[in-house]
Amino acid sequence: MNRHATSHPATAIVANRNDKPAKKILVLGATSGIAEATCRIWAAQGAQLFLVARNAEKLAAVAADLRLRGASYVGTAVADLDDTDKHPEMLAHAINSLTGMDIAYLALGVLGDQPRAEQEFNHAAQIVYTNFMAPVSLLTWLANYCVQRHAGVLAVLSSVAGDRGRKSNYVYGSSKAGLTAFLAGLRNRINREGVTVLTIKPGPVKTAMTASMKGAEKFANVNKVAATIVRAIDKRVDTLYVPSIWLPIMLVIRHIPERIFKKLNL
Ligand SMILES: NC(=O)c1ccc[n+]([C@@H]2O[C@H](COP(=O)([O-])OP(=O)(O)OC[C@H]3O[C@@H](n4cnc5c(N)ncnc54)[C@H](OP(=O)(O)O)[C@@H]3O)[C@@H](O)[C@H]2O)c1
Repeated sequence: MNRHATSHPATAIVANRNDKPAKKILVLGATSGIAEATCRIWAAQGAQLFLVARNAEKLAAVAADLRLRGASYVGTAVADLDDTDKHPEMLAHAINSLTGMDIAYLALGVLGDQPRAEQEFNHAAQIVYTNFMAPVSLLTWLANYCVQRHAGVLAVLSSVAGDRGRKSNYVYGSSKAGLTAFLAGLRNRINREGVTVLTIKPGPVKTAMTASMKGAEKFANVNKVAATIVRAIDKRVDTLYVPSIWLPIMLVIRHIPERIFKKLNL
């Protein structure tokens, strides 16, 4: 078995270095810092990857890097994932290119500008659309694909910000809260069909999204976060707080009484 094979998976039986069949992974929002770090780990395992992103230049650079790192197949498609009408055709093409799919990894997201979103509904709607509506569209199609096969993992980047609305980022937070609730309901529906739905809730991570934020240098290391995500997918976990310290932190934050919480500057 040649894990460096670059041919279409339909024309080659591909295995990783342990001679286990290579994972077939669809990555949506593949130029994300967290997605890229995760894909580097999968590439080193010899995975077959199909990457979807809206920036053609960045996507080509990420794909070339992953080929060099050992991915046994890397397919790409350029798509603005806000264009939900195109999702069914794009997803069918991606899975056809991979000749199947074991894992779908959704990383698309925008932080947006909270002060602007407080003044302009259109900006708030844009944040909610990319972080909630687009994933709902993708997951509706992907969930039904997985249910038909009684297999698959849908791993989705939500956020600790969705655990409680705070004045500093409640538009982004509410889009992630909606996504987290959607994933919980989807899991309740399809886990019994053999499909894993993994809700990933990172705390602040050092990526392009957070680069301009105060204290960004202290945020979690993206490679460590990615390694934890890969392990959680392998173990078919339901919900992952990463780094794990965010589980007790959010437990406390969720339980602060509203009469106190409303006075805090969070
Ligand atoms: N970093 C953190 O602290 C943190 C914490 C909690 C949750 N998260 C979540 O983790 C995920 C990944 O974030 P990240 O930290 O890796 O940030 P990032 O590097 O800014 O990645 C976000 C990705 O989403 C893509 N994207 C946005 N809108 C899109 C659209 N309409 N169509 C296609 N792609 C689109 C971006 O594409 P472009 O490159 O073209 O802009 C970018 O690749 C996001 O869902 C984020 O909300 C991040």
